[in-house]
Amino acid sequence: MNIQWYPGHMTKAVRMMQENIKLVDVIIELIDARIPMSSRNPDIAKLAANKIKVLLLNKYDLADEGKTKEWREYYKNQGYHTALVNSKSGKGVRTVNEVIMTACKEKIERDRKRGIINRPVRAMIVGIPNVGKSTFINSFAGKACAKTGDKPGITKGKQWIKLNKNVELLDTPGILWPKFEDNEVGLNLAYIGSINDEILQLEELACELIEILRDRYTDKLAEYMGFDLAGKAFELLEKYALKRGCIAKGELPDLSRAAILFMDDFRGGKICKVTLEDVPSEV
Ligand code: G4P
Repeated sequence: MNIQWYPGHMTKAVRMMQENIKLVDVIIELIDARIPMSSRNPDIAKLAANKIKVLLLNKYDLADEGKTKEWREYYKNQGYHTALVNSKSGKGVRTVNEVIMTACKEKIERDRKRGIINRPVRAMIVGIPNVGKSTFINSFAGKACAKTGDKPGITKGKQWIKLNKNVELLDTPGILWPKFEDNEVGLNLAYIGSINDEILQLEELACELIEILRDRYTDKLAEYMGFDLAGKAFELLEKYALKRGCIAKGELPDLSRAAILFMDDFRGGKICKVTLEDVPSEV
């Protein structure tokens, strides 16, 4: 299955980000801890080339703990300021303010020397669709969140969220990039729900995912499925359909409904905690 998805609103969003990037000190990039490489947008990396960068591994509650540690270490070694965040429960969110302040320490010091004191750090929040940006902002800003007025130079209607006296946030829409060079990247994004399901063949996607989970998380998948995992992936999806009561006309397994249930359970972390990518091995 070859996956590409780059609707027009994303082109507009990139333009908006390009217009506003000069106004911010730091880029806060949310990535999905289950696919720490595929959930990084190369266009954002280019856009943010000269900015201070904070990388938040969101949804770490759904990811494999050991692998998350390795990925965090990997990104730390690449010079990123990082934090593990579960935006849904709020776990780890409180540490983010400190991470931002540490990341911007030198900049704040430079400002101080030039007589600029108490100027809030301005941050742009970026990430792929569905990575959890809205949930994170709500959790991070909480009730203290107060929207500041429009500032000159910012796309009309864009609002700064005044987080506290130290930080102001600018939200951006979730974006992907025009072409996934590697089909696996597209698949990974589809598994976690960052690609519109309407353009996907969900049965095929579920079968691909079954293969991967059988390989990486054999025991957990067997436990979840409740039957032997021998056979082709589509045969397992058939068995799964029958088990979940997805029956079509003629008593045949309804694979399309089964695929929806399987993907939903996977995305909601009901199969097991997963990380689908490994840190690159050193050459
Ligand atoms: P976006 O703005 O980047 O598009 O993402 P959004 O905040 O809308 O979050 C997308 C989905 O991810 C939501 O689930 C949200 O609850 C969930 N989510 C966000 N952060 C985390 C996290 O750290 N851990 C977990 N487990 N889930 C997270 P949903 O099913 O679309 O909505 P809801 O039923 O949870 O409200």
